[in-house]
Amino acid sequence: MSTSAATATLIETVGVGKSYGSFVALDAVSLRVAEGEMVSIVGPNGAGKTTLVNVLTGLLKPTAGLVRFKGQDIAGIGPVKLAKRGMARAFQLVHIFPAMTVAETIAVAIVSQTDRSLDLFSSVRADAGVRRKVAEVAEIFGLAAKLDTESRLLSQGEKKLLDIASAFALVPEVILLDEPTSGISSGDKHGIMKTLIDAAKRAGVKAIILVEHDMDLVAEYSSRIVALQGGKVLADRVPSEFFSDPEIVAAIVGKRVGKLAREA
Ligand SMILES: Nc1ncnc2c1ncn2[C@@H]1O[C@H](COP(=O)(O)OP(=O)(O)OP(=O)(O)O)[C@@H](O)[C@H]1O
Ligand SMILES: [Mg+2]
Repeated sequence: MSTSAATATLIETVGVGKSYGSFVALDAVSLRVAEGEMVSIVGPNGAGKTTLVNVLTGLLKPTAGLVRFKGQDIAGIGPVKLAKRGMARAFQLVHIFPAMTVAETIAVAIVSQTDRSLDLFSSVRADAGVRRKVAEVAEIFGLAAKLDTESRLLSQGEKKLLDIASAFALVPEVILLDEPTSGISSGDKHGIMKTLIDAAKRAGVKAIILVEHDMDLVAEYSSRIVALQGGKVLADRVPSEFFSDPEIVAAIVGKRVGKLAREA
């Protein structure tokens, strides 16, 4: 989990800015994510975390600066093209298509990221390769017994896993997750994170970028923490250095994690 120059950089932003009219959502954000890293993006509501993820996945074109994935400019190229190059994010298909089964949801994720998107539903049904891939992904996420269950009938935790499973469907090199455990009871959050990290290892994912409010999870699973505040990078540190700085902790996470920092 080194960030030394010797480690291959996967994602890099240089002076990225994103403005909406006169409102500055991201301001001169420069960061690097290298192979082997699990980088958490933290910060208060409205800090710019989702905006940054949207820029990193090419969904939003920054108004300033550079975004590179494996050395190539990806500013605004869009998530579909980016997924083909090896970066994927959770889509929340579960919420968009509640009547689709688990198998269909994963299949749509696979097919929608390949060149066969024009004939989406028939290729989902007919393609043996897609079916095999669906079974593989479902197995990794413990959803093999639920393949024919409509996603609306899944538990909250299973819905999250299905969502993340869909992002894994293309075996991405990098995966971005915006609050994968939101809406999950704190007891189940660790289970989901463990499944997720285990699946990432098995799938050969080289780096994970995670937006997460739960600082217990951030402390336990990150190799590095990037803290945003008002669209700026306030800190970019390994967890031990992050949580031992009371000023940073107070600015980013307030009282609840102030408590956590004192315990650390
Ligand atoms: N399309 C938009 N037009 C105008 N302002 C926007 C737009 N999208 C986001 N913003 C603003 O940019 C800021 C950053 O939003 P963003 O969603 O990135 O925050 P966040 O850190 O993900 O917050 P949360 O923790 O609540 O999810 C917010 O103040 C938001 O209102
Ligand atoms: Mg957000």
